[in-house]
Amino acid sequence: MRNVTIDNVTDVVIGSLGKNGTIGERQREVLTSLITHLHGFCKDVNIQHDEFLFACDYLARAGQTCDDKRQEFILLGDILGVEVLVDMLSYPVEGTESESTVLGPFYRENPPVLPKGASIIKKHYDNEETAYFEGYVRDASGAPVADVVMDVWEDAPNGLYENHDADQPDYNLRGRFTTDENGHYAFNAVRPVPYPIPDNETAGELLRGMGHHPNRPGHMHFILSKDGYRTLVSQIYDAESDWLDDDSVFAVKESLIGHFHKTNEHDTDLHIKFDFVLKTNG
Ligand code: BEZ
Ligand code: FE
Repeated sequence: MRNVTIDNVTDVVIGSLGKNGTIGERQREVLTSLITHLHGFCKDVNIQHDEFLFACDYLARAGQTCDDKRQEFILLGDILGVEVLVDMLSYPVEGTESESTVLGPFYRENPPVLPKGASIIKKHYDNEETAYFEGYVRDASGAPVADVVMDVWEDAPNGLYENHDADQPDYNLRGRFTTDENGHYAFNAVRPVPYPIPDNETAGELLRGMGHHPNRPGHMHFILSKDGYRTLVSQIYDAESDWLDDDSVFAVKESLIGHFHKTNEHDTDLHIKFDFVLKTNG
């Protein structure tokens, strides 16, 4: 096609997707829609060449900030509400099952495997409040689900995750637990504090441009997995935390808010009970 015009360019590009490309049907569907929306966006705002070059430079700079500990593109997706949208599209809530929410960029695979009731604290802070987390994992019929593998991770009382803080021991505040025959889980941790998502690079540029802040309410991350059940990636939010109603990544759900209570048991300052309902696969 020689005479590409504003009116036909979208059809021409989509038409160029060859039958023998390496992509499958689903990727073709996604790419076709991407081209359509990208062209529509450019026309909608009458994008100019200097703006196109700015976007290319911005994305290149975002890429340069990525390494094995930092995933700037997840952050950009979070700030624009894309990760939470993708999560809701991927895991629609249909019944009584627990709601999922964003994974975020701070998960580490293969956390320490710990027995029920153990502590994930490897370093203490003057301002920490220790907390005993416990609850039951059930299926939609209310039956307990045993042997659910539960990865948990949270920020330290200084607001940093251990892999972003050279002063914390490796795998501090991370652990892997398993539910017992009653579907019960328990572990000792700290009350998670609100923290700002990393905003010193391109993610911060975007936030400042938007006039939004980087803060997240205090939360404990969970991944619950067991064969035969849909893996649940979720978080429990502290009902008394700041930023519950203005999360920088839009990930708070009412059903994920939990309450810490003072306690004299468990060798901790606080106690929180939170139950989960897992959806079966298929
Ligand atoms: C988090 O909850 O760890 C998180 C989620 C999205 C962006 C940054 C952090
Ligand atoms: Fe987090």
